[in-house]
Amino acid sequence: MKPVITGTGSFLPEKVLTNSDLARMVDTSNEWIVERTGISERRIAEDGVAASDLAIPAAQRAMDKAGLKPEEVDLIIVGTSTPDMMFPSTACFVQSKLGAVNAAAFDLLAACSGFTFSLATASNFLLSGQYKNALVIGAEVYSTIVDWTDRKTCVLFGDGAGAVVLSARDGDSGILSTHIFSNGNYSDFLMAPGGGSKLRFTNEMIEQKQYCLAMDGKKTFTLAVRNMTQAARAALDHNGLKTSDLKLVIPHQANIRIISAVAKKLGLDENLVYSNIHRYGNTAAASIPIALDEALSEGRAGKGDLILTVTFGGGFTWGSSLIRL
Ligand code: ACO
Repeated sequence: MKPVITGTGSFLPEKVLTNSDLARMVDTSNEWIVERTGISERRIAEDGVAASDLAIPAAQRAMDKAGLKPEEVDLIIVGTSTPDMMFPSTACFVQSKLGAVNAAAFDLLAACSGFTFSLATASNFLLSGQYKNALVIGAEVYSTIVDWTDRKTCVLFGDGAGAVVLSARDGDSGILSTHIFSNGNYSDFLMAPGGGSKLRFTNEMIEQKQYCLAMDGKKTFTLAVRNMTQAARAALDHNGLKTSDLKLVIPHQANIRIISAVAKKLGLDENLVYSNIHRYGNTAAASIPIALDEALSEGRAGKGDLILTVTFGGGFTWGSSLIRL
């Protein structure tokens, strides 16, 4: 028995924020953003649209493709660092709206690695035999924690959601492995410090925008390349595979230069590497399931093909999954 991806779905808000729009808000230019990041535009949720509002249609699309009824879902995990609220979990709102009355539902916070960590968790619940069907979602509204006056970060992020249905099935298809890693010694390089129990809600905290994401871009870049490469190798070595065995690689969409550097270190043909960063920017935990859904819709991989996903995010956290379709 293996956890098999039987359906994928994604949902992006309609509103597009282009690099030219951003150049009217902060001291930047389309040329700088495209050259340094590969991003041309990103989607932004309207005021009042929460992570669950993006997660629900993405999940519904994945369930429709899988032919899974709401009452058959045993587990819902939402990877997010921009939940609807502190509690209840965003996953509980998703469960209620979908009518997944038999599902246990919870959120998982691993910043941009949230989907990969959620996939690893759900896979192991299925492998243990406890559950048969899981809904794994990445959903983010990073526009709510971006400082729109900070050109170093505001050009990078966007909103969106992606989802997969995982079902326990016999056969060769399925998640062959998941590897997840963390190193809290690097937490200072990427964090949204305000609004939790440490740095509480005060007028001063809000005025200083400490609820917003802050990042040391250069250190994050270097460690993202190193650790994504390591996570990719862990997946290949564990399964006794080579890069030439892969049909498709879906990396976290943080920066096209990170993606290219990882591909180069692994000796990967760039044609194997999927990217939609030019359209969506970095949608954090939603980036891999959105890319997976789009790549499969475009026919970039089919039955029996091997797909490697690899991620990196705040924590620092990083990881990979190897999937046989
Ligand atoms: N427009 C124009 N100039 C800018 C902009 C901008 N938007 N942003 C920065 N600059 C300027 C800087 O001020 C600096 O100017 P200076 O030399 O006069 O000081 C110059 O451009 C170079 O800035 P750097 O920060 O050195 O630029 P860099 O090439 O490192 O690119 C970037 C910055 C894009 C942020 C890159 O470091 C990066 O992608 N880092 C990793 C991001 C990432 O992977 N995040 C992980 C996941 S996110 C998560 O988990 C939530």
